Amino acid sequence: MNQLQAKKAFVTGGTRGIGKGIVLALARAGADVAFTFRSSVSEANDIKIALENLGVKALPIQCNAASIDETQKAVDTAIDFLGGLDIVVNNAGITRDNLLMRMSEDQFNEVIQNNLNSVFNVTKAVMRQLLKQKSGSIINISSVVGNSGNPGQANYAASKAGMNAFTKSVAKELGSRNIRCNAIAPGFIATEMTEVLDQEQVAKWMESVPLKRSGSPEDVANLVVFLGSDSSSYITGQVINVCGGMQI
Ligand code: NAI
Repeated sequence: MNQLQAKKAFVTGGTRGIGKGIVLALARAGADVAFTFRSSVSEANDIKIALENLGVKALPIQCNAASIDETQKAVDTAIDFLGGLDIVVNNAGITRDNLLMRMSEDQFNEVIQNNLNSVFNVTKAVMRQLLKQKSGSIINISSVVGNSGNPGQANYAASKAGMNAFTKSVAKELGSRNIRCNAIAPGFIATEMTEVLDQEQVAKWMESVPLKRSGSPEDVANLVVFLGSDSSSYITGQVINVCGGMQI
């Protein structure tokens, strides 16, 4: 239950969907949590209260993860507040789906900036602290489509494939300093991001998933807790699917 007692975590995009699930799961496991949000001030405050009720320290920080300057400030604020950093979760992400024929340069760039540059920004910003401590677990929320590709998601799939390669490179570069870096590749997880999809189409997709259901934010968050804990201390550079068997 207190698998993450005394651990200090930083999570991007923590006010809804998978990010909210991760923030709550980390706190339930005993970690103090600083989390970022872009604009949802009241949701952020509600989550802060929920975390404090779980008996941990909590700090919401307004920050656009696609901005390197804002991210450095947010990370510095988090480290000051937490007094160190053990777990870093790059969760913030967006979709701008369109067939390539219709995809604009803006739709491509926006997804790369929010999904991939954000991971670079956060990793750069936390590195100095993790190197000083000689410890840390960085967890990047990727997607199965980063491996398989997906029609209508060339921008998104490219951003997640980039994230996977970035993850492996960081694992190789920082492993000797006891800093681990892994990616989680969710399949279909029911969140606000997927609510906008045609639900009949979603039901058809679920038929082809061996476990015959969509995943929940908790399904992803449980793996984040494990990868953030000392139980996973020999696991780095991996992209681990949480997809109900969608991709085998
Ligand atoms: P969501 O849209 O419900 O939540 C994403 C959160 O990230 C939002 O709170 C949003 O404000 C925040 N965010 C986006 N860009 C940001 C930025 N630049 N700075 C700060 N915050 C930012 O999405 P969901 O479903 O919870 O997805 C979370 C992560 O999981 C994303 O990286 C997504 O690509 C990934 N994922 C989701 C899947 C799904 O089926 N829901 C499947 C595979 C991966």
